[in-house]
Amino acid sequence: MEKAEHAALFNYKGYNLAKETMKLDLVEALEDFETRDSDIFVISYPKSGTIWTQNIICLILYEGHRNGTENISISHRCASIEYNIYNVDITQMPSPRVLMSHLPYYLVPKKLRGKKGKVIYVYRNPKDTLVSFFHYTNSFRAVAFNLEEYMERFLTGNVIGSLVFDHVKGWYTHQNEFNILFLCYEEMIQDLRGTVLKICKFIGKELSSPEVDKVVEMSTFKNMKADPRANYVKTYEECFGQKNVKHIRKGTVGDWKNIMTVSQSERFDNIFQAQMKDIPLKFIWDIK
Ligand code: A3P
Repeated sequence: MEKAEHAALFNYKGYNLAKETMKLDLVEALEDFETRDSDIFVISYPKSGTIWTQNIICLILYEGHRNGTENISISHRCASIEYNIYNVDITQMPSPRVLMSHLPYYLVPKKLRGKKGKVIYVYRNPKDTLVSFFHYTNSFRAVAFNLEEYMERFLTGNVIGSLVFDHVKGWYTHQNEFNILFLCYEEMIQDLRGTVLKICKFIGKELSSPEVDKVVEMSTFKNMKADPRANYVKTYEECFGQKNVKHIRKGTVGDWKNIMTVSQSERFDNIFQAQMKDIPLKFIWDIK
């Protein structure tokens, strides 16, 4: 039996959603969801840098977000198409809409798959994703998982988002069906300005050099953690009654080394090799 409601899963067509949060009618309607050419979908496996990417895009697109004159949180600005916890009327959102999703490639709107709308897919080395997800999940729980227990769930896909390898592989191998930009979390850490410029180019938004500087400054870990529009503190309180969730937690590369034992790391590596051997995506496990 699950120890906390948050861990409860709802399997929809082979993919695990958060049972307590998802809305089945919303998910079932997604196949025929009307996308617009100008739509920007931030898509990822959970704990891979989703909110960071959403925030960067909001800072690029909205001057009021950048200069602080607008106090709209990114959970309102970028609704999730499968959860939409604030019931944002997505059909009435002005273009360009920024939307987000953790869905696998085969469950997103049919038209997005036909290149109507853009996808920014962010991925991260899955050991750090595991560690981030582990801390996040435990922050909802009365009785914490230990890493061994959680790793077992993660490596068998018994978590929200299902198996990380399937998610990344699916999006990577079907990339030709989408208008898609891949971002790597660790490269975002290594070169935030370069990432901002890459996103600007992909979404067709030109900013002046000082504006780019401002986006970079406001999307650093420290500044995002302090920004109530971006740190999700209020969202967890309002929507889940949770005061202890630190979504913007540590923001580093290689945190897995601080918690995984050698044998856990080796086991992970073996599974990773077997699962990802045909996928030429670059993974960065540590930054010196
Ligand atoms: P950690 O738990 O390792 O700190 P997601 O939004 O997909 O759930 O990803 C959450 C992860 O992204 C967390 O990782 C969080 O700290 C990290 N993150 C969020 N904003 C960041 C930023 N500006 N710089 C670096 N990491 C960031």
